[in-house]
Amino acid sequence: MTKVWQLPIPREYRQLSEPELRVRIQAAKDALGSRLAILGHHYQQDAIIDFADFTGDSFELSRRAAEQRGVEYVVFGGVHFMAESADILTDESVRVILPDLGAGCSMADMANLDQTLDAWAQLADACPDQTVVPVTYMNSSAAIKAFVGEHGGAVCTSSNCRSVLEWALAGGAVPGHEPGRKVKVLFFPDQHLGRNTAYDMGFPLDRMVVWDPKRDLGGNDEPAVRDADFVLWKGHCSVHALFRPEHVDEARAADPDVKVIVHPECRWEVVRKADTAGSTAYIVKQVEAAPPGTSWAIGTEVHLVNRLRQQHPEQKIRVLSECQCLCTTMFRIDLPHLCWVLENLVDGTVVNEVKVDAHTRRWATVALERMLSIKGDGSPAGGRPTPIVSQAEAARAGVVD
Ligand code: 13P
Ligand code: SF4
Repeated sequence: MTKVWQLPIPREYRQLSEPELRVRIQAAKDALGSRLAILGHHYQQDAIIDFADFTGDSFELSRRAAEQRGVEYVVFGGVHFMAESADILTDESVRVILPDLGAGCSMADMANLDQTLDAWAQLADACPDQTVVPVTYMNSSAAIKAFVGEHGGAVCTSSNCRSVLEWALAGGAVPGHEPGRKVKVLFFPDQHLGRNTAYDMGFPLDRMVVWDPKRDLGGNDEPAVRDADFVLWKGHCSVHALFRPEHVDEARAADPDVKVIVHPECRWEVVRKADTAGSTAYIVKQVEAAPPGTSWAIGTEVHLVNRLRQQHPEQKIRVLSECQCLCTTMFRIDLPHLCWVLENLVDGTVVNEVKVDAHTRRWATVALERMLSIKGDGSPAGGRPTPIVSQAEAARAGVVD
């Protein structure tokens, strides 16, 4: 992604009170009517969710974006890679706007195209007799999505990762792949989602290698790379990395009946100790379906956990750890920025448009459309509870960040 910076918005918007901002945002929304759709990711602050026409996880919001026919503007309450995907999935005539261009994602920034091309060439040299299928998590730049689309792979989200990996292990859409040839998945950029999902599919940890883009052969020797079924890019989410296995132990010590549910961007040791793991939409569904009195410790971004606690006073809901598990970039989307972009639209000015160039768009569309055609149930374990293993086993596995 070309780095973009957010210039300070006019001071006036910073000086308005929350009630004033809400009145002006609603007025702008009313004026724009059906020309506008506002999408809000589950991690957004409540004030933004209040104005969203659609809320959801990354998969659901991509689906919603693809459905927007006839609207002129999609305002994305989320981060940059989500707005890029929305631009790719909507008609050319739809203008996608990110209220604060500084709302990026540190995980998405952990893989760039030059590193990807380099890794691809090294893998081709090391494994000329194998089919390598590239799969990228939604949380990546449009350039990586396009690379994946052009090389027979697909995008996945945490909702359908397992189904996309099953598709990839059958050869994906790699031209010339023949049944019987060994298939290897190159998974960008979240090693944890890749590892957690592959492990739940039955692949032991020694079938996976981590690819550090700063080192030759990703820091591996050639036999290890050749042998592996999964090459996991060395990236992670700095928010979910804050959850640690001892937080699960502490939650269980405090309440033996607690159910621990975590996002699969959490480390493997945390996911193994949890009762279950899944995308944000999966977490929401599990809480909604639980009987009154259920006690939860939830390992994901704090805004979603707090919202679930407010919506379900009949349940005991807490965040898995008291760490500051807040996505600071998502948090940049606030009422002043929303008000500023909407009032500009009312005046006929498009600010903060996110636009993907034609070549990138072409191949990223292929990868995203493959993703939309492959549904999952939101859990890397396919909805089954994940078996709980001891900390000693996790330590023996020697999983690294
Ligand atoms: P999902 O929306 O797929 O659950 O992903 C969570 C996330 O980290 C988004 O950035
Ligand atoms: Fe990126 Fe993690 Fe924030 Fe999601 S929660 S946008 S993966 S930093």
